[in-house]
Amino acid sequence: MDALSLIIFGVTGNLTHKYLLPALYDMAEQGLIPENMSIVGVARKGMSSDEFKKYINDVLRLENIHHQHEIKNEVVENLSKRLHYLNGNFDDPNLYIKLNEFLGKLKVGKNSNKIYYLATYPELYHHVFENLQRQGMHQQENGWVRLIIEKPIGHDLKSAQDLNHLLLNYFTEDQIFRLDHYLGKETLQNILTFRFANDIFEPLINKDNVDHIQITATEDFGIGKRGGYYDQVGALKDVGQNHQLQMLAFATMDAPAEFSNEAVTNQRLKILEKLTPLPKNIVFGQYEGYTKEENVDPNSKIDTFYALKTYINNERFKDVPIYIRAGKKLKQTATEISIVFKNPQNRLFKNLNSGDTPNVLIYRIQPNEGIVLKILTKVPGHEVKLEPEYMQFCYRLDPHNHYIPDPYERLLIDTIRGDQTFFNDAKEVEAQWAFIDPLVATRGQPIIYKPGTWGPEEADELLEADGRVWLEPSMDFCRI
Ligand code: BG6
Repeated sequence: MDALSLIIFGVTGNLTHKYLLPALYDMAEQGLIPENMSIVGVARKGMSSDEFKKYINDVLRLENIHHQHEIKNEVVENLSKRLHYLNGNFDDPNLYIKLNEFLGKLKVGKNSNKIYYLATYPELYHHVFENLQRQGMHQQENGWVRLIIEKPIGHDLKSAQDLNHLLLNYFTEDQIFRLDHYLGKETLQNILTFRFANDIFEPLINKDNVDHIQITATEDFGIGKRGGYYDQVGALKDVGQNHQLQMLAFATMDAPAEFSNEAVTNQRLKILEKLTPLPKNIVFGQYEGYTKEENVDPNSKIDTFYALKTYINNERFKDVPIYIRAGKKLKQTATEISIVFKNPQNRLFKNLNSGDTPNVLIYRIQPNEGIVLKILTKVPGHEVKLEPEYMQFCYRLDPHNHYIPDPYERLLIDTIRGDQTFFNDAKEVEAQWAFIDPLVATRGQPIIYKPGTWGPEEADELLEADGRVWLEPSMDFCRI
């Protein structure tokens, strides 16, 4: 088998610590690292190879909410054997000469395939590309070359277009893997299976039956040590421009003709391109105390919360309102999509109090991951009384105890396989910005909200004006 090198630019950074190394650990534990794969970490810091191995070992053992299982010595040991370190500045041509020589030594077989993972600041990308080109390291003469980049992919439509153009100077679209880790989430991918493998639900998901859709991504924690980054972007750009729009696309896209990258991506794109920005229907909030966080401007007006209303301008969802909210330091951590069905006067049970919104299809991304349908059932007893209950598919109650890959693990393996189905193409990212830009333009002084609440009251008014309310994420289903 050909040699494969994963070259991580920014191996000492936050992204690598929190997501990439744990994913590589999991791959090592599952025996999913290809036999001839080497991992070359690149960063500025001077470190010997022993120091690097110790560093990796330490990082893997740091507390990490995304990676909470036991770290086994033998797995770390195994992984360490494949890890190499090179230090240098990303704008220094000598680094790439060294890297090229180093990769040459790792070569086995005829070809040597390469994945460049840019876990670094977008401002540095062009240095990396230029230098790779200078050394001919972007060429696919002796094996394939793939590139992974992550958000932020631009900071508005124009800069995203510029970056997409820049990329095409060095790579072709099929080499560029734009990673949004939400697309690698098992819980999100399962939405497609649920919808398109079970034909009974799909005919119901349209304007005739759906009253509205809610997309929630609330977190009960603040920005932690990420002030330097977060204060430049805010909630709308941090998760609204990417993860949440992708959640919406998964929940509302039409069935692809086949499960190929092109077919699936095109269906997502069709939704993203049809979203209507409503600059008058957005609320921005900021949690009390935010401006005192580390590396945050004391006069910052950045949003740590937003709530908006939008529509998908297509036949299927014409006039179905979609409400999206996300924020930090809120009452509860929950990420979900709720498809709220219409509630026509029920002929038989019209006088019985059944609570609001009797039928809601919930795709719960986290916690208590699953897909559940809220239904009404009879309270056991002599009276005819109704109560809401959940028909549930829950990952945590899986009798088969299936292994659930972490999104980064899933997406790294897809990259190795060359499968871009769950990566964004240039047009998707641009469509996302085209929707977000007019909303960002309305940002002014955010409304201050108390930590531990659901954000500013104005966010409730957004729905109340339409005779609706935000659904409080229920913790009653899929509990262990
Ligand atoms: C990241 C954002 O992309 O996604 C974070 O930068 C956010 O602010 C995170 O907390 C949410 O991801 P997850 O997988 O924890 O839901």
